[in-house]
Amino acid sequence: MVLSIVKYPDPVLTTPARVVENFATHELRQLVANMFESMYAANGVGLAAPQIGLSRRLTVIDCSVGEDPAQQLVLANPEIIRREGKQTGEEGCLSIPGFRADVVRAMTVTVRAQNVDGEWFETSGSELLARAIQHETDHLNGILFISHLSTLKRDLIKRKIRKLQKDGEW
Ligand code: NI
Repeated sequence: MVLSIVKYPDPVLTTPARVVENFATHELRQLVANMFESMYAANGVGLAAPQIGLSRRLTVIDCSVGEDPAQQLVLANPEIIRREGKQTGEEGCLSIPGFRADVVRAMTVTVRAQNVDGEWFETSGSELLARAIQHETDHLNGILFISHLSTLKRDLIKRKIRKLQKDGEW
């Protein structure tokens, strides 16, 4: 089922999400399946639970956008435990559609997380995957990519969004 994606400035996006406590349930598996389906429908490489209005520390990532099932990643209660190097690249967010900006991120990260069965695991990624892991983990802490921009750039985007809202186009 494709779920609708919550847009900035909905407060669920700027509130730290709650810990996932129930694993290996039908509900969690269904939620994860719906999140992948919703992400693919929106052509995204990552989607965090707060973006569907659910305050849970849960995110799905697939840098192949559905082309390669082996690249599907489910992270529950993730924590980035290592960051190496730097990369600068354009980033966007399904909750802030139509806006993109350069964001500096670590080049390689290692994340520790639980899978749908509640088992802890560690995985590492570089370049786009590292960017997605950092962007999605930020979401679970109530942080959006615009938080990483200069005040000037962030205010410009916020102003444009307010104008779109006023015009009924947001
Ligand atoms: Ni996002």
